[in-house]
Amino acid sequence: MPTPLQNQGKPITTHDLVVVHRMFRREFGEAPGRVRGVRHGSRAQIRLVADRLALLLDTLHRHQADEDRLLWPKLAERVPGHAGLWKRMRAQHADLSARLARADALIGPWTAGAGSARGEELAAALEEVSRAAEEHFDEEEREALPLAPEAVSQAEWDEFGTAAVAAAPGSRLFTVLGMILKDTDPGEQILIMAHLPLPPRVLWRAVGERGFRRLEERLAAAVGHG
Ligand SMILES: [Fe+2]
Repeated sequence: MPTPLQNQGKPITTHDLVVVHRMFRREFGEAPGRVRGVRHGSRAQIRLVADRLALLLDTLHRHQADEDRLLWPKLAERVPGHAGLWKRMRAQHADLSARLARADALIGPWTAGAGSARGEELAAALEEVSRAAEEHFDEEEREALPLAPEAVSQAEWDEFGTAAVAAAPGSRLFTVLGMILKDTDPGEQILIMAHLPLPPRVLWRAVGERGFRRLEERLAAAVGHG
């Protein structure tokens, strides 16, 4: 079992998780408006919004699976007296997963109807995801995250970032990275970039960052804010 000694007395930082939650909060907050805003758009514009939604839903699904696999079991075993909290975290993940699946199942029918049919249903499903995710992140950040530094080593914590990078190959990684870096200060940018191996870090600066900015401009134009 890792002890603070294994971290050489330095508390681990869990702030990178708060930064990732901030991205999910913002993106899911904007998602229903994007669905409603693109309803008079071209097929290509609807596809652009649909791709962003599918990526977002899948990324949150994987994020939760990583927490269930890499974090909660260690904390439950090493920090006694919080059985109710871990039970709630798992129940909230299960509830969110069902909402993510419901929204995901509506993307296909919505794009097939060129953005009009099922649009309101999809927007409402995304509002449900957003509300449930906000509540879950609030409790997780307030109750669960403060327990991590006493029970998890920095190396174990870093497995999180490694798993997230491995799950997002190619251009998908740069879109997720761009979304995360969008509302960050320079210190947070260093924290997030440290999870990347060197080649994608160099590629991000060379082409990824610019590509993401263009994608954001096209998305804003598609939903009527460009
Ligand atoms: Fe979570």
